[in-house]
Amino acid sequence: MKIELEDIVNLCKRRGIIFPSGEIYGGFAGFFDYGPIGAEIKRRILNEWWKFFVSMRDDIYGIFPAIITSPYVWKASGHVDEFIDILVECKKCKSRYKAENLLEKYGIAVTDFTVENIARLIADNNIKCPKCGGKIGEPRRFNLMIEATVGSVKDGSSVAYLRPEIAQGMFINFKVINIAMRATLPFGIAGMGKVFRNEISPRTFIFRCREFEIAEIEYFVDPDKQNDCPYFDEVKNIKVKIWPKDAQKSEKEAEEMTIGEAYEHGVFSNKWHAYWCGKALEWLIRMGIRPNNLRLREHLETELAHYALQTFDIEYYFPYLGWKEIVGIANRTDYDLRRHSEHSGEKLYVVENGKKIYPLCIEPSFGVERVFLAIITDAYSIVDGKIVLKLKPKLAPYDVGVFPLLKRKDFVEKANNVNMLLKQNDLITYIDFSGKIGRCYARADEIGIPFAITIDHKTLEDDTVTIRFRDTREQIRVSLNDLVSKLKDLIYHHNSINFDW
Ligand code: GAP
Repeated sequence: MKIELEDIVNLCKRRGIIFPSGEIYGGFAGFFDYGPIGAEIKRRILNEWWKFFVSMRDDIYGIFPAIITSPYVWKASGHVDEFIDILVECKKCKSRYKAENLLEKYGIAVTDFTVENIARLIADNNIKCPKCGGKIGEPRRFNLMIEATVGSVKDGSSVAYLRPEIAQGMFINFKVINIAMRATLPFGIAGMGKVFRNEISPRTFIFRCREFEIAEIEYFVDPDKQNDCPYFDEVKNIKVKIWPKDAQKSEKEAEEMTIGEAYEHGVFSNKWHAYWCGKALEWLIRMGIRPNNLRLREHLETELAHYALQTFDIEYYFPYLGWKEIVGIANRTDYDLRRHSEHSGEKLYVVENGKKIYPLCIEPSFGVERVFLAIITDAYSIVDGKIVLKLKPKLAPYDVGVFPLLKRKDFVEKANNVNMLLKQNDLITYIDFSGKIGRCYARADEIGIPFAITIDHKTLEDDTVTIRFRDTREQIRVSLNDLVSKLKDLIYHHNSINFDW
């Protein structure tokens, strides 16, 4: 069965996962609200990210930088001048398009994002407005940063920007963190939070929005040691489709190989870059995404951001969109630390063994909404005509459902006691007293609850319950005394049962 975007959008709306913001006023393009189920799933994705990339490592420091900071930051970083898309407008109906998307509609892939090239492609292919057939006007550069007015006086000096990436928060705080944490190279600074971009045409549900979340790491390495990566063995055997820029140019397919092989073939700008591509893939696979649906694609020179020497996108195969970027891993060199040093006067280098070093920076950057969409798309399945969201237990909105078989008072009382027992042991539960057990299971399956506890006649006699497994529908009987430890074992070390993910 092919999954369509509507399947995901409908489920998300119907079950309180994600829906357009401000819908009672007709919506507001590019902005979304997370409902109770979506908020839990997202919170868990973010927690897993932080745990894997920050808490479980000794070389990465997590921070929460401000959303709005000094506007000088964005001048120095190059965003005021270079953070742009090419905009085109229909001369007749005034509809506006991101040029790249408009051309894509006509089957033309843009690889050179200059105004001149876009103008040529539009003229050569006689591109017209898809809405009214009108003539398309001259392409122009459009800055994606959203401005905010700060302070009580509105003039040029009060203009600030909502951050379009978290990264600058890590660069401007580089020195203070380096000193406060007594960090030595190599080390990283991680941050996550909301970012804002004035996308010309937000579309495809949460794939391209104007407010979204990024989780990213700026990992700083001594340029003389960029191929000394002591952790490389952790990732060298990860196998995935890799599509270097030369293969794309000569129209060769992406080739399956290990990160270690690709590094040996000189695909990556350095060993740390290869390592971070591997680590980002490892985390996505741990979150339940099938490795077959992931690939690493190198940016062509014409696609590179103004700060990047080399970038790889991790693309996910969305059945309704094709291969699309969900994570980017860039080699930003020492560009940002040097720019902020020049613009601020604060020298952002480290001194190690008497040597002044401007470290180079590898940046894995995760678009959380896109990762979220990939995770639920990969988990979406139909079993006996019904939706089952096969999320990893650690990402499910609830750990366990509690369902009394009957609405009778003694069943309800027992279910309440079991529910309380589980909550007191830090398990997030969902209780449903409707007494229609088949429907309870179906409702739980749809939002990915991995386990369901049923309170039945036998429970009242001997304090045992059944645990039903979402994916296999197998049921086992467990004593209430063992229930908490059994569930925790299943959630955190689900080796004891053969799940089909
Ligand atoms: N600091 C680097 C940086 O911001 P980026 O490629 O511009 O890099 C990072 O953004 C990630 O954010 C992308 O890999 C993508 O997954 C996600 N992303 C970018 N624009 C987005 C949008 N309009 N809506 C949702 N996610 C977006």
